[in-house]
Amino acid sequence: MAKTEQSGGKTLANGRKKFYVTTPIYYVNDKPHIGHAYTSTATDVLARWHRLLGDDTFLLTGTDENTLKLVEKAKKEGVEPREIADRYAERFEASAKVMEISYDRFIRTTDEAKHHPGAQEIWKRIESAGHIYKGTYEGLYCVDCEAYYTEKDLTDGKCPIHSTPPQKLKEENYFFKLSAFGDQVKEAIDSGKYEVVPETRRNEILSVIAGGLKDVSCSRPADKLTMGVPVPGDDTQRMYVWFEALTNYLNGIGFGWDEKRFARYWPADIHVIGKEISRFHAAIWPAMLLAAELPLPKKLYVHGFFTMEGEKMSKSKGNVVDPFELVEKHGVDPVRYYLLRALPYAEDGDFSERRFKEMYDSELANDLGNLASRVLTLVEKKCDGKVPEGKADPKLKEHVAQTHHELANLLDAPKFAEALERLNGLVSLANRFIEENKVYQQEGDDLNGSLYTLAQTLGHLALLYQPFIPGKAGELQQRLGLKPDGWDADSLLEWEKVPAGTKVAKGEPLFPK
Ligand code: MSP
Repeated sequence: MAKTEQSGGKTLANGRKKFYVTTPIYYVNDKPHIGHAYTSTATDVLARWHRLLGDDTFLLTGTDENTLKLVEKAKKEGVEPREIADRYAERFEASAKVMEISYDRFIRTTDEAKHHPGAQEIWKRIESAGHIYKGTYEGLYCVDCEAYYTEKDLTDGKCPIHSTPPQKLKEENYFFKLSAFGDQVKEAIDSGKYEVVPETRRNEILSVIAGGLKDVSCSRPADKLTMGVPVPGDDTQRMYVWFEALTNYLNGIGFGWDEKRFARYWPADIHVIGKEISRFHAAIWPAMLLAAELPLPKKLYVHGFFTMEGEKMSKSKGNVVDPFELVEKHGVDPVRYYLLRALPYAEDGDFSERRFKEMYDSELANDLGNLASRVLTLVEKKCDGKVPEGKADPKLKEHVAQTHHELANLLDAPKFAEALERLNGLVSLANRFIEENKVYQQEGDDLNGSLYTLAQTLGHLALLYQPFIPGKAGELQQRLGLKPDGWDADSLLEWEKVPAGTKVAKGEPLFPK
């Protein structure tokens, strides 16, 4: 397969492709839950996949801290906002570690050296291009969303997401001329220059734009929003949190403090977000970049939401699932696997303990785990633990090549649940190969050919599952004597992964029941 099909596009001076992927930056007024863990895991799969292809990859994640809700929470608790921000930022970073998110940088928007300068620079560029003006904002604000609303956005007078009444505001603000960018943003999305997926989300945002984009407030009075990025040249105002938070995607890779690195990675190859923040990312963000004359990101992937056993997750219902507890109970790989499998493309998904158990037993323990232990046991018993020299089965070999091709396309979409299904398909095929050929009864050339073929197939699986379940895939690689990194798009595709003569180790079951 052509490399360009799989990789990020821009070629760097050293000939490698680059790939830059981001998560949203999370609010620090509450603990992380599986919704956040899902987004970060999905993002991580893309980063790990591109590293496997040999791309120069950068994964950015972090926390969004300059919010009114944090200021209000701090007031209630009688502490400094920074104290709460530190507490939760630490939790979010710890949860990224627990979920084995391979981030290259964890950005915090309270970072005055590496976030504020970039945010202010964007403000200055947009202002000097004539797209910021002063006015009076009179309207509604939902503190939980940190978003402005109009009456018609509300459901029974309440925020459609949080079901709480919004605040009524009348204050001096600066405004960003979003209305001037509707046509350009529409054109970028329509033409695929800024690709928004899935299509349902793309259509949704195009219809919002067709309805006309209004100018948006882009600052708050400093006496209300006591933390945040000062508006350049006006001490009485702070940048509206979303207006500066979005710039994290630039600042996180060096905008305002490491221009060389910024030039290497920008534009982002893909932003991964949940559906509730698509307007910010598909309308305001590209407009800001156009106004500041910066290149647009290439793609926005908007995923659905998790419910918990069929119900909306909420603190008041007490059904918020803590990723730390889940990983403690099941181990990180099964949790990553389940989250990725449970959220279908373009839809919402449900977290259910029963489904978790079923999926673990059937797909991980019975299918993948069993395949590994059958192949390794046979090599140990019948060939002294060494992969025999033999003739590859052409059908299985062809299927392996096909899996690479399809996986690349599915992750390009990106369709995570379907990508795993595809890999599971190869596992089933290999298990069937063992049954149909009764490999455990074979002898001589037949046996050698079968085991050689199965060892290669298992080698490919150990690499291809790596982005999803890096721990278990790594264990399998070790047993097969395979290196986890140093691959590129071409070498990854090569058929022979575990050469004849390689000593393999059977080990304990990968997924114990
Ligand atoms: N701080 C903003 C984002 C700014 S990005 C410049 C924010 N933060 S958040 O803490 O509320 O995180 C929102 C994101 O968390 C969602 O977009 C989604 O990625 C993830 N999820 C939160 N709840 C979720 C579910 N129930 N299900 C799946 N993902 C969810 O918004």
